[in-house]
Parts: sequence; C-alpha cells; structure tokens
Amino acid sequence: METAIRNGLERRPKRAKSAEPFLADALPAMKEAIAERDAVVFDEKFRALTMSCNACHALEKVPFFTVNPPATRVSPIRSSD
Ligand code: HEC
Repeated sequence: METAIRNGLERRPKRAKSAEPFLADALPAMKEAIAERDAVVFDEKFRALTMSCNACHALEKVPFFTVNPPATRVSPIRSSD
C-alpha cells in the first residue's frame, strides 16, 4: 500500500502534501496495530486508515471515491471457531 502511494506521488508530486497525514500518521499506526495482534486496536486503526484515504480524496477534489471497510470477507479462509 505504501509502495503504491509512493509510486503514485513520484508520478504526481503535486499530490504529496495531501498524502502526508496518510504516510506519516495513519499508515505507521496501522503497522503498529498489526504488530500488536489485537483485533480491537486493529479495527480502530483500520477505520482511521480508511478515513485517511477519504481525507486525501477530499483534498485532491475526488471525494466521490469513497472508501469503506469491507462489508464481507473476500478470502475463503475462515477461523475454525
Ligand atoms: C495522495 C492522496 C491519496 C491517498 C492517500 C489515497 N488516494 Fe485514492 N485517489 C487519489 C486520487 C487523486 C485519485 C483519483 C485519481 C485519478 O485522477 O484518476 C484516487 C483514486 C482512487 C480510486 C479510484 C481509482 C480508479 O481509477 O478507479 C480508488 C479505488 C482509491 N483511490 C482508493 C484509495 C484507498 C483504498 C486509499 C487508502 C488506502 C487511497 N485511495 C488513498 C488520492 C489518494
């Protein structure tokens, strides 16, 4: 995800400022939450990350690209409990 955003900014450097909160705050917080392996913290940070996607879309005047957390699980892998 970070690589995709950074590659995008290399091609569109004018968008770099809008991406700062995403790269500097939301994404590192998400990485930490993954390392903690705590589902509640994960959900909280995932929502914050998603809002950060939309914040950049608003700043870049494409607010109609509205990102939401997935409503259904795409992977066929399920925990057995
Ligand atoms: C640099 C700020 C920025 C960040 C951060 C950002 N986006 Fe975007 N996104 C854009 C811009 C600008 C467009 C419109 C690109 C265009 O001109 O086609 C876009 C378009 C999109 C599109 C539509 C692409 C298409 O052509 O169909 C999707 C899907 C998307 N973003 C998802 C995300 C997700 C998910 C995240 C967070 C993980 C995210 N974006 C974070 C700026 C950003």
